[in-house]
Amino acid sequence: MEQKQCFVAVDFEDDDNVKGYLYWYLCRFANVEEGDKVVAPLGRHNNLQQGVVRQVLFAYEDDAPFPVHYIKNIRNLVKADSDSLYKIVKKRELNSTVTMMEVLAPLVAKKAEAGQFIILRVDDDGERIPLTVAGYDRKAGTVKIIFQVVGGTTMRLNAKREGEYIADFVGPLGCATKTDGLKKVCVVGGGVGCAIALPVAQKLHEQGCEVHTIIGFRSKDLLILEDEFKACSDKLTVVTDDGSYGRKGVVTIPLKESIESGEKYDEVIAIGPLIMMKFVVATTKPFGIPTTVSMNPIMIDGTGMCGGCRLTVGGKTKFACVDGPDFDGFEVDFDEAMARSNMYAEFEQRERERCNLFKKEVE
Ligand code: FAD
Ligand code: FES
Ligand code: MG
Repeated sequence: MEQKQCFVAVDFEDDDNVKGYLYWYLCRFANVEEGDKVVAPLGRHNNLQQGVVRQVLFAYEDDAPFPVHYIKNIRNLVKADSDSLYKIVKKRELNSTVTMMEVLAPLVAKKAEAGQFIILRVDDDGERIPLTVAGYDRKAGTVKIIFQVVGGTTMRLNAKREGEYIADFVGPLGCATKTDGLKKVCVVGGGVGCAIALPVAQKLHEQGCEVHTIIGFRSKDLLILEDEFKACSDKLTVVTDDGSYGRKGVVTIPLKESIESGEKYDEVIAIGPLIMMKFVVATTKPFGIPTTVSMNPIMIDGTGMCGGCRLTVGGKTKFACVDGPDFDGFEVDFDEAMARSNMYAEFEQRERERCNLFKKEVE
């Protein structure tokens, strides 16, 4: 038998162009009430906006306020007495391809630790992508993400403006980086991997550990977070491939020099491109310095069920999302991980082209 459906009339009261008008939506949240806030797509480009529910109607399809197939869906509901929307409260470009966002997500902010990640969907019809928790403010209920624009989804995310919303933001996922008992650590970050390395360096610094940091970028214009690293490092070395800033060369050169000069590290923590982590491990292994790497293979559900993120570590299959993302670098099969990370290259290229077309249309 046909069931009644839930329809809500929404007033986008913060938008001067439309406030006071009521827009009808289908609502999958049966507990919705007048006064609740919702996020819903508005206008030709379906930009997600926040509005207030002014009317709730449970009706059969024939009694719907509009033909049901014309009605869009509510994306997110926040009860009048809570505040957990995924609003982008701050957005800043760190360089031409890397962006920082602070997102209102109090439940994630409450529990997140360095080394953990979230999975987000930019829009309802979007794919799920993992991004590391680059920081959090438990009081303000915000989580910081720093991402590099590399393909379709990160392009869509970067197109969002401060004050707009993200459809889903799930986490914290994965295991926190283990820092207990560490007294002297060298943190090595490469490119956007520095965004993931920063909260780890900060946590080590806060617990009184001596932190030496080496960060590497292709060139000066890609440099990020230098001041933030300075603040939490006892020694900071910046390298660029082309020598346009800091020392010329790759991160393993100063790392090897430090070790050979007698620095005794309890551990080296390396976070960056797979190839960088592979060579960091090749540098530390002959000295027997325990080395942790942060693996970021393709992830889909982030809960250990899909198997998308599997890696071989110590000859055994591990799932980066639940067993990691941190692993013993000496045990990781980097060559296999690198081959698997290119698996969807063709699909990704197509999506990038689609997004570029979309961007041009909007401009
Ligand atoms: P696409 O064109 O689809 O892909 C570009 C490349 O991104 C691919 O070659 C692939 O290596 C990677 N990628 C694509 N989809 C996924 C996926 N579902 N899971 C993992 N990798 C994918 N990037 C950041 O910039 N900042 C971070 O803090 C960060 N943290 C991460 C933490 C984890 C645990 C993992 C697994 C990945 C993290 N990444 C991070 C990588 C980020 O998820 C990808 O750059 C993003 O998914 C790219 O999506 P796209 O559609 O824009 O690009
Ligand atoms: Fe699905 Fe890890 S992402 S099992
Ligand atoms: Mg993609």
